[in-house]
Amino acid sequence: MKVKNRALISRLASWEVLQAVSAGAYSEVAIERVFKKYDLSVIDKAFTTELSCGAIRQRQLLDYWINSLAKIPATKQPPLLRWLLHVGLYQILFMDRVPLFAAVDTSVELAKHYKLKRLSSVVNAVLREAIRKRDSAENFYFKDGEAKYIAYKYSLPVWLVDKLISWRGKEGAQDIAIASNRVPLLDLRVNCRRSSLHILQQKLADIGVESKAIKGCPDGLQIVSSSGDLRHWPGYAEGEWSVQDRSAQWVAPLIEAQSGERILDACAAPGGKTTHLAELMGDSGEIWAVDSSQRRLNRVLGNATRLRLNSINFLHADSVNLLSLKPSWEGRFHKILLDAPCSGLGTLARNPDLRWRISSQKIHELVQLQFKLLEGILPLLKPGGRIVYSTCTIHPDENNHQVAKFVSLHHQLKLKEQRQIWPGDDDGGDGFYAAIIESC
Ligand SMILES: C[S@@+](CC[C@H](N)C(=O)[O-])C[C@H]1O[C@@H](n2cnc3c(N)ncnc32)[C@H](O)[C@@H]1O
Repeated sequence: MKVKNRALISRLASWEVLQAVSAGAYSEVAIERVFKKYDLSVIDKAFTTELSCGAIRQRQLLDYWINSLAKIPATKQPPLLRWLLHVGLYQILFMDRVPLFAAVDTSVELAKHYKLKRLSSVVNAVLREAIRKRDSAENFYFKDGEAKYIAYKYSLPVWLVDKLISWRGKEGAQDIAIASNRVPLLDLRVNCRRSSLHILQQKLADIGVESKAIKGCPDGLQIVSSSGDLRHWPGYAEGEWSVQDRSAQWVAPLIEAQSGERILDACAAPGGKTTHLAELMGDSGEIWAVDSSQRRLNRVLGNATRLRLNSINFLHADSVNLLSLKPSWEGRFHKILLDAPCSGLGTLARNPDLRWRISSQKIHELVQLQFKLLEGILPLLKPGGRIVYSTCTIHPDENNHQVAKFVSLHHQLKLKEQRQIWPGDDDGGDGFYAAIIESC
């Protein structure tokens, strides 16, 4: 579709992303789709991403504004109108650099040109009223109980805020809520076999990409300012670095892999930690990357190839039943990494739609699967070996409770160490958990 007005095009793209996500698409996929459909500049793409991701995160708060300002509640509005109001409201409430008149005018224009001509006056009226109320927004927020206040102000499901308060208290819950809404950091991991922090930092600086070292993360670089498609940055095609959050970079070193050891990565895709392990081992061990998704396993292969790593073997399998598939693997592995499928509650900032997908029931099912995976991999561990169990969630049932139960059922196992990183902890990475379990 040809859209001539550049101010409209990125708003139209964002509106389409909100519609697609409400119909079940993942935000990442929906954004990629509009990037292919429209001819957007680098700046337009950044604007579309910020507006779409922000409005998806803030869905509950934006609905709350509609409920307060319009005659018909948000969920009863025609969906096209609801998502267009979200596009306008998000700019008014969260994007300080967008002139208020531009947020209103572009939304009204979109309504007129795209199937909402009759309702363009509603768009105009609701957005203008939002501008009038904007500066006293704090008085406007829900006052009925602390959990609801945090849930609406930071746009998180109430059940989740109840949990956060029970784990971390009110202040801790609020810190997590704030961290879950910020624009996520972009961290790189240098492939220590092919480059170094210093060399990569210089190469990036040469093309105007500013970066800085990350405290406590020996191979990590935080991107401070950048532009353009990072796959075109120097060294990417040559396998000199990968994109990996600082918290995720902390896991592979816990394996303490020695060169020549046999290592199993039982839930490997897309391969961030498998490839990190191979890099740390000087590409000299025997690593098995197993995953139940062939499509995702192909991504591990793609990443390993780009990073020029040869020590990784691939197996498409369900790790719950690995022993029956590979009886010769009994007691074979010195170390096993189980980076388990989880609710991802530590990565809400990175995955804007996740908070609206996850539920207590889904978490309960994941807890069962994680336990089966732990039981499934245990017979493959060599006596004296080590399991590292990790997740990117903050739910205790998936983390310390899970590990405590597993260790208590097997007298040969000992919990050596465990650590929970909360979103908002001072280093700024995703929420993460890891435990080192050793067998005697
Ligand atoms: C958290 S992701 C792993 C991320 C990966 N370790 C990394 O660092 O890039 C969890 C993975 O577990 C896989 N998975 C889920 N159930 C599985 C099962 N029963 N057996 C093997 N893999 C499974 C999913 O396909 C997904 O790729």
